[in-house]
Amino acid sequence: MPLISVPEAIKSLQEGELVAIPTETVYGLAGRIDREETLRSIFLTKSRPFFDPLIVHVADSEQARDLAKEWPAIYDLLAREFWPGPLTLIAPKTERISSLITSGLDSVGLRCPKHPLALEILRGVGVPLAAPSANRFGRTSPTRAEHVIAEFADQVKVVDGGPCEVGVESTVLRAELRNQVWNVEILRPGGISQPQIRHLLEREKVSFTITRAHSIASPGHTKAHYQPESPVVILNGKISDEEVIKLRLREHGHVVNQIRHLKLPEDVTLAARVLYQNFRELSAEQTAIVVEKHLIHAGEDWQAVWDRIERAAILHL
Ligand code: TXA
Ligand code: MG
Repeated sequence: MPLISVPEAIKSLQEGELVAIPTETVYGLAGRIDREETLRSIFLTKSRPFFDPLIVHVADSEQARDLAKEWPAIYDLLAREFWPGPLTLIAPKTERISSLITSGLDSVGLRCPKHPLALEILRGVGVPLAAPSANRFGRTSPTRAEHVIAEFADQVKVVDGGPCEVGVESTVLRAELRNQVWNVEILRPGGISQPQIRHLLEREKVSFTITRAHSIASPGHTKAHYQPESPVVILNGKISDEEVIKLRLREHGHVVNQIRHLKLPEDVTLAARVLYQNFRELSAEQTAIVVEKHLIHAGEDWQAVWDRIERAAILHL
């Protein structure tokens, strides 16, 4: 078994190796940010294209500020409220951040994770850690240690921190001051919802606008992503006949003899927590996973869950 303890993980990471670590969102494939060969091996292990930038994980906001050339004042508010937690802040980078991490961009994504073992590891290593989700590129992110093992077998050492509490990746956010108004852009919806951010900024009497950016603003967050082994189909209420679904799948090159339904819980926190686990459990040979769109699963709180289902889906019927 590739499972290792926290002290072993700290030692391996200090030596420049990769270790899959638990965070509250998903497991991350971590490596120290100050070694080019370590960073390169993150991309190679995941078969991740070099144009998809990595998130840098820090032990606290001071460490984040040290890596940013500018630190927008609004980030102090956001970090105080949501860190440690599932929020990634995009800031102009300093020289300390390799362009391998940022895929050549001038900005870097910074996040302080909430999982107690992630924090213990970050403090122990003493150097910030770059960590993308610990899955092969384009696939479903792991929310349990056994998912990482299923993905990489003995190739990657793993720290088991139990099932991830949030279950979907962090919210990626960028903010800029324009004419005295903070322009807040959600580049990727995630563990902190748009209403949570809005409520904080209203409470603090910040003058702001908040928008959801087009996916192009978040490099690597490609249209097809998070795909489980089995094809995912979204049903919009027009078609429910299984034979019709199979026929339409066949037209798209998927021969399927079994349809399985992913039933979303009514509670959005729970729905996010179990989403990737459900994708994995429902996947099987010649099987399609269908998800029905219901009104009870609508609204801004659901943005992250639907973003992931839509990117996983190959067909809308
Ligand atoms: O919850 C998470 O964020 C997890 C855990 C492990 O922390 N990590 C994660 O990493 O989801 P990854 O590599 O799967 O997604 C990173 C994404 C990139 O694909 C990109 O969309 C965005 O973060 N990103 C990173 N740096 C950026 C930058 N400088 N500008 C814009 N987007 C950036
Ligand atoms: Mg990922």
